[in-house]
Amino acid sequence: MKKATVKKDVCIGCGLCTSMASEVFGFGDDGLAENILNAEIPADLEDVVKEAAESCPVSAIETE
Ligand code: F3S
Repeated sequence: MKKATVKKDVCIGCGLCTSMASEVFGFGDDGLAENILNAEIPADLEDVVKEAAESCPVSAIETE
């Protein structure tokens, strides 16, 4: 995995990803999550990002 993107039209702002992987996900001014890292996901964060993506209640996080 190198990339994680939050689909803004799907996110409901539940905050799970931002608390699970705060290095990667944060809230934008719109109250929805976004990738705040602006870089490739570091190897040591891949697991937690994957977990956050799988845990998102509306499956708003896409990973590649
Ligand atoms: Fe949104 Fe899902 Fe995160 S609803 S705040 S992308 S866990």
